[in-house]
Amino acid sequence: MVKRYGAITAVKGVSFCVPRGEFFGLLGPNGAGKTSLIRMIYGFSPLSEGELLVFGKDIGTQWRYIRSRIGVCQQDNTLDPDLSVEQNLHVFAGYFNMKPAETRSRTDELLEFFALQHKRRSKVMDLSGGMARRLVLARALINNPELLILDEPTTGLDPQSRHQVWDRLGALRERGLSLLLTTHYMDEAASLCERLLIVDHGKALVEGSPQELIEEHAGRNIIEISPAPDGLLAFLEAKGAAYDDLGDRIVIYAGAESGLEETLRTRFCIDQCTIRPAGLEDVFLRLTGRGLRE
Ligand SMILES: Nc1ncnc2c1ncn2[C@@H]1O[C@H](COP(=O)(O)OP(=O)(O)OP(=O)(O)O)[C@@H](O)[C@H]1O
Ligand SMILES: [Mg+2]
Repeated sequence: MVKRYGAITAVKGVSFCVPRGEFFGLLGPNGAGKTSLIRMIYGFSPLSEGELLVFGKDIGTQWRYIRSRIGVCQQDNTLDPDLSVEQNLHVFAGYFNMKPAETRSRTDELLEFFALQHKRRSKVMDLSGGMARRLVLARALINNPELLILDEPTTGLDPQSRHQVWDRLGALRERGLSLLLTTHYMDEAASLCERLLIVDHGKALVEGSPQELIEEHAGRNIIEISPAPDGLLAFLEAKGAAYDDLGDRIVIYAGAESGLEETLRTRFCIDQCTIRPAGLEDVFLRLTGRGLRE
């Protein structure tokens, strides 16, 4: 897929495949092209170049079929603030030509599933951020989609609300739903997604399960030493070790088999030294750098 906005090429040829029933995550820094990618997938913006099949059908010609089988939670809150919780769901059901009886039963089911029954008649502007986000999720599920597309579903939520959303998504996985998710929370990606694609500057960097990516790109343990003792940088260079020099702090990605960790512990862990298991955030920072975007 390629996406251009005038002179800007936001997506520069990214390919991936998500099997039915998989929870798949797209990760990348601000401006990497995640939203541009998923907007093409839910038929909101046309491809500038390339080919895209959803449920095996071409998005260019069969977007109606595709749209009826996906649920979307956009990055921005697109709820209607003047309508009640229930009315927001009903309006959406109308887009899918759902019958009144089906709309009512589906609304009841979703309000219960997302613990919003007590807010049924409240205006959207009276909801907390967490409730509004749950309502957006409920709305995305009104048409009983086979594929749910979520663009940063839990941004700005407190830990309680995030965990509640994760629980709900876990329950939906049991029912066979496929998920395409973007997030900036590495713990969210690691716990929800079976496979991840990291993109940056409109290009795919790496793809794999969270565990595979961690093992391959961050190693087993991360050793942080500050400040760098004499000889450390020369030692790391001589060993060909993977590390980031942050000035006041050296972050070393210690692989499992090199014996590097042992030497670092005994020779260089003098003042401040932290040894911790590598995580997805280490992979992300190592592959996409530490500079600010946009
Ligand atoms: N409608 C548009 N017109 C022009 N440029 C756009 C448009 N939408 C996105 N861009 C640009 O395309 C690039 C990719 O943006 P996109 O929103 O896809 O990134 P993202 O990975 O979703 O970022 P974030 O994590 O901040 O949501 C950015 O440089 C952005 O400024
Ligand atoms: Mg985005």
